[in-house]
Amino acid sequence: DPKAVSPRAFPPFTPIEPTGADTLTLPRGYRFQVLAPWGEPFTESGRTIGFNHDYIGYFPLDLHEGGRSSTDALLTINHEYVNPMFVGGDTKGRGAEQIRAEMEAVGVSVVRVRKGRQGWSVVPDPRNRRIDALTPVELTGPVRGTPAVKGATTVKGTVGNCSGGQTPWGTLLTCEENVDGYTKSWEGSGYEAMHQGWVTEIDPFDPQWTPKKRTGMGRFRHENAAVTLAPDGRVVVYMGDDMQDSCIYKFVSKGSYTPGNRAAGRDLLESGDLYVANFGNGSWVLLDYDRNKKLQEARTGDRPMFTSQAEVLADARAAALAVGGTPVDRPEDIEVHPRTGDIYAALTNNSKHGNFFGQIIRWTEKGSDPSALSFLWEVFAYGGPQSGFASPDNLVFDPYGNLWMVTDNSDLSTNPIKAYHGNNAMFFFPTEGPNAGRAYRFAVGPVDAELTGPVFSPDGKTLFLSVQHPGEDSESLDKLRSSFGAQAGSQVPRPTLVAIEGFPGWRGA
Ligand code: FEO
Ligand code: CA
Ligand code: CA
Ligand code: CA
Repeated sequence: DPKAVSPRAFPPFTPIEPTGADTLTLPRGYRFQVLAPWGEPFTESGRTIGFNHDYIGYFPLDLHEGGRSSTDALLTINHEYVNPMFVGGDTKGRGAEQIRAEMEAVGVSVVRVRKGRQGWSVVPDPRNRRIDALTPVELTGPVRGTPAVKGATTVKGTVGNCSGGQTPWGTLLTCEENVDGYTKSWEGSGYEAMHQGWVTEIDPFDPQWTPKKRTGMGRFRHENAAVTLAPDGRVVVYMGDDMQDSCIYKFVSKGSYTPGNRAAGRDLLESGDLYVANFGNGSWVLLDYDRNKKLQEARTGDRPMFTSQAEVLADARAAALAVGGTPVDRPEDIEVHPRTGDIYAALTNNSKHGNFFGQIIRWTEKGSDPSALSFLWEVFAYGGPQSGFASPDNLVFDPYGNLWMVTDNSDLSTNPIKAYHGNNAMFFFPTEGPNAGRAYRFAVGPVDAELTGPVFSPDGKTLFLSVQHPGEDSESLDKLRSSFGAQAGSQVPRPTLVAIEGFPGWRGA
């Protein structure tokens, strides 16, 4: 019985087989409930939950009284992108009404949820709100007001919200990933490409606080933001640029975080240093125009590539490659191990290199100090037929230091593993002991869906998970491939958050 042994060596469930079933398949003893599906009204003004749920932030309602409630929380849900067949319904004309519907279905939902006798439910709360593609967002940090953003100080909305992170002072970092598509399809709506592609900080507890884009963290295809603290209290954020042959970054804040000082915390990400990882020699290379000569010397043809730090940050990818940042195979999520401090990153795949399966890597910073400038790395787990998974995407640690990972095989029609991988799945990995790095299949998503945004309640008893884009490859609303999350009497699938219960009382915490 796996429940009788340490969860660090074995999974707390009997692993399941791959399947193509149109449901969320879980091991015996586990169950899920649909919570906060797309289109459900949840704010006082009647706003509805957005589309294609991704990252979920869990903010215990009593966080600022030092509490860690596992039954009452504000959840933040990223809504990564829309499928016009489902949202707005107009796939051809794309008139103003269609574009407006799309703009209102992306961004972030802040949703209060509570666990009662009947399980979890969404509850009315003045903090329930939507931040969408039209919400005013302030640009802060070195790029604010510069020519790189056409002088802007406040911009429209946040889009491409993929994964994210939570800060110790109780705010959300939501990451703007595939923003190019939006600015193209919303052309003519005053949508500015350089205003997207940043990390946006949102305070779920304070609807009056204008969301802020932290430009010091660079502009690229921001996948995620894994937050930790250096021994001296400086905030360190690990970030991936999810594109083929792009890099992994870390931001180190200038100031230090004082536990409990929430107001000061909210300014910490405004200034600091941005580094890019060089996996050749295990070093962090500074991306600072004034302090790194290579950035001053970089040329495009006979012209300087950059003339200011604002330009470096606005095209951080080019700057990273110019100073020797190592291009890797599409960095997806990154997480910091809650006990060892090791950093884990999912390199999902890279068809250019024939890397169809991906890897999970991990590294240890020198002296286990997240602000250190050198590190040692290794491969933690290889995707492929042997291990049973492919294309690792989101990662999350449970409170005991076990790793959980979800796959994203969506875009790889040529992926040789797809035929026997079944639908996208969730896997468990011990991180220590004889089975470290072994993958155990915990969940399989419905047809066409990706499982995204996993987060555990602090007691480890509830896993919140997003079921993103079920039925996405349907030809039309008459030929639906999935009905997952559909309303009673309807067959139309809905992206949704689910709450999974059944986790045992864990040992060895
Ligand atoms: Fe939105 Fe890189 O996944
Ligand atoms: Ca992702
Ligand atoms: Ca994560
Ligand atoms: Ca994904």
